[in-house]
Amino acid sequence: MEVVIAKSSKEIGKQAADLVVAQVSQKPYSVLGLATGASPLFLYSQLIDRYRRNAVSFAHTTMFLVDEYVGLPRGHVQSYRAFIRRVFTDHIDVPSSAVHSPDANAADWNVACEEYEAAMEHAGGIDLQVLGIGRNGHIGFNEPGSSFASRTHLTALAEKTRCDNAQYFSEKSKVPTHALTQGIGTILAARHIVLMASGAKKSRAIALALEGPMTAMVPASALQLHPHVTVFVDDEAGGELQHFGCHKDVALKIDAFDNAG
Ligand code: F6R
Repeated sequence: MEVVIAKSSKEIGKQAADLVVAQVSQKPYSVLGLATGASPLFLYSQLIDRYRRNAVSFAHTTMFLVDEYVGLPRGHVQSYRAFIRRVFTDHIDVPSSAVHSPDANAADWNVACEEYEAAMEHAGGIDLQVLGIGRNGHIGFNEPGSSFASRTHLTALAEKTRCDNAQYFSEKSKVPTHALTQGIGTILAARHIVLMASGAKKSRAIALALEGPMTAMVPASALQLHPHVTVFVDDEAGGELQHFGCHKDVALKIDAFDNAG
């Protein structure tokens, strides 16, 4: 696991964008996993900027959202599908048919989840998965107690999560109570995972996830099992780390050392 501590969420966005651009340049048919929420916003605006400057094309990529609210009408402004279009995919050259999200409006959620897993597999699996982290350590909407082996499934949102997300709705009671989410097992199947967090309110979750014991009570601690995770945090979100953490120039030297064998 590589942990990069940057000065600001803007800086995190730039550095994560470098990784995504490198991934897509090396493999134009990359399959990208996308989180929504505030954490990757600078990443997405950076990627739009680089696309506009002809530094990258997403024309051959396929994208899969990590989760979707249940209970919102199709096309609702706060659905994650509408969100990702607004902040990212409508502004780049990825075909809209190549952007997938779990079908939370399906008649049968179990079937929708199975179909989502099958679609990811058919696409060749996720090459690079972008994640945020909840204050309670969730990844996707895998709330505390979620199985590390879980695949895409229907889940109930924790009260803490509903409170955090109330800012996007007119009142807390309007925040959906359920979602379809990639499972932790699904997330761990990605070849490279990029976790992004900023602000002091994420520092506990980051410290527990990276340095605490692996436990279902901190879903993001499952990332310790994965061989290729890059964590971008700002000084505040990395503020409670004891053992991990180095700035990008040091991280690059470690990478060079690793490659030298
Ligand atoms: C959203 C998602 C969630 C968020 C997490 C952090 O697709 O999967 O796990 O990444 O709740 O949200 P923000 O970034 O808004 O703090």
